[in-house]
Amino acid sequence: MNKRIAIIGAGPSGLAQMRAFHSAAAKGEDIPEIVCFEKQSNWGGLWNYTWRTGLDEYGEPVHGSMYRYLWSNGPKEGLEFADYTFEEHFGKQIASFPPRAVLYDYIEGRINKTSIRDWIRFNSPVRNIQHDADTKKFTVTAHDQLKDSTYSEEFDQVVVASGHFSTPNVPYYEGFESYNGRILHAHDFRDAREFKNMDILILGTSYSAEDIGSQCWKYGCKSVTVAHRTAPMGFDWPDNWEEVPALKSVSEDTATFIDGKTKKIDAIILCTGYQHFFNFLPDDLRLKTTNRLATADLYKGVAYVHNPDLFYIGMQDQWFSFNMFDAQAWYVRDVILGKISMPSNKDDLVKDINDRVAAEDAIEDDYGAIAYQGAYVGELIDETDYPSFDIDGACQAFYDWKKNKYKGIMTFRDNPHKSIMTGSMAPVHHTPWKDALDDSLDCYMENDV
Ligand SMILES: Cc1cc2nc3c(=O)[nH]c(=O)nc-3n(C[C@H](O)[C@H](O)[C@H](O)COP(=O)(O)OP(=O)(O)OC[C@H]3O[C@@H](n4cnc5c(N)ncnc54)[C@H](O)[C@@H]3O)c2cc1C
Ligand SMILES: NC(=O)c1ccc[n+]([C@@H]2O[C@H](COP(=O)([O-])OP(=O)(O)OC[C@H]3O[C@@H](n4cnc5c(N)ncnc54)[C@H](OP(=O)(O)O)[C@@H]3O)[C@@H](O)[C@H]2O)c1
Repeated sequence: MNKRIAIIGAGPSGLAQMRAFHSAAAKGEDIPEIVCFEKQSNWGGLWNYTWRTGLDEYGEPVHGSMYRYLWSNGPKEGLEFADYTFEEHFGKQIASFPPRAVLYDYIEGRINKTSIRDWIRFNSPVRNIQHDADTKKFTVTAHDQLKDSTYSEEFDQVVVASGHFSTPNVPYYEGFESYNGRILHAHDFRDAREFKNMDILILGTSYSAEDIGSQCWKYGCKSVTVAHRTAPMGFDWPDNWEEVPALKSVSEDTATFIDGKTKKIDAIILCTGYQHFFNFLPDDLRLKTTNRLATADLYKGVAYVHNPDLFYIGMQDQWFSFNMFDAQAWYVRDVILGKISMPSNKDDLVKDINDRVAAEDAIEDDYGAIAYQGAYVGELIDETDYPSFDIDGACQAFYDWKKNKYKGIMTFRDNPHKSIMTGSMAPVHHTPWKDALDDSLDCYMENDV
């Protein structure tokens, strides 16, 4: 096959795409030439932790949004690869909410067994992609940071897997410019100990708000105040944690909320989400969507409706993550290999998207959202040779997890879940999450199984 495929990004989504091609090749199929451009010096995407914030050593915006002591927020049983289980990787079953280093090891383990690294050009941010309607080729322009030189190459199809939890959404509130303390976005949060003994204010009510607040609480901040724009999270928080109405303004050291109440605060952490941001794509190729389950403009959640030779992986809001990226990657692979044909009529592509959007809009609660995304993963898997797995079982793990969070927001990670891939129950971790200050892989592996 003399096709050339470009993959942008070697995080979990880009790696899934490469793994998909690699597994086809291992079965004797003819695959295209794959070139993956990765702007960091290693793979793993967000899971490749960096201490850096702001700009990196080359002046490029730092991709990483992960922080020290981050543990999986959902049960690992919901994200497990169907073709590479935790037990296969670690040689034993492990507890259900691994810290970042453990998940990184797992992600890397699956591909360390392959030659995929040879396909990746590290330190190579993509600067621009153009499509020629006549030749039907894409021209990808990348920067080789080690040589400090920019070059362009042609490709037949492009897979964008550059993530969407990296460019922060940073709102302005009255008085921010006169506030004396630190105002930072979750993207720049690295170590909860920075906020020890402080009264912190968090804006936002989603996972970053919940988890960064919990981190700061765990590592000794004085109090956590979370202001909600829409609705409070409503968990049974510790005594030094309160949920308050939306922020109205701040002065030198005091926050005023829309109910008129005030509170002295030492730092403000904006857990206000991220933007889908693709500064290397021109208008005609650039995905413009909000963080939702049915992304705009993507047929089957992956093929760009305005140019179906361009694919996006992992652009949805995520209940399912690693195994959803696999389902998408296997599907995209089979489209590229010509084993799956997509509708040739644009109206049919658009109809698929409209149906998905309408179905998402009809969802009533988080349980419905989990089932919706589970069904989507199942739909894609049914069309490829990705190993099928018990999607209902994975959804059940998420339902149990959600219930456990309402039973105890600081204890939900202490619960074990059952692997839907191997059927074995996870052990209970040796130390409750709130007391486990060491998040290293060695420490996490010290379980009894
Ligand atoms: C703080 C935080 C915690 C999270 N925790 C969990 C969790 O516990 N469990 C879970 O399942 N998910 C979690 N997620 C969700 C996360 O999005 C996925 O786990 C996963 O990292 C997404 O993979 P990705 O490959 O799509 O994107 P990313 O991991 O963001 O990887 C994208 C890659 O593309 C590269 N790239 C970007 N732009 C360019 C360019 N122009 N040129 C070349 N390369 C480029 C980046 O350097 C990066 O390596 C978390 C997200 C955040 C922000
Ligand atoms: N430990 C972990 O595993 C972990 C930790 C952190 C994050 N994550 C992951 O990171 C991803 C992103 O999560 P996220 O919480 O950063 O983003 P998110 O889920 O997109 O949530 C954004 C939040 O910001 C709020 N917001 C937006 N604009 C605002 C404004 N102007 N003023 C006040 N609030 C505003 C939103 O409130 P409204 O509801 O009012 O719109 C929402 O609560 C998720 O996939 C999550 O799983 C994982």
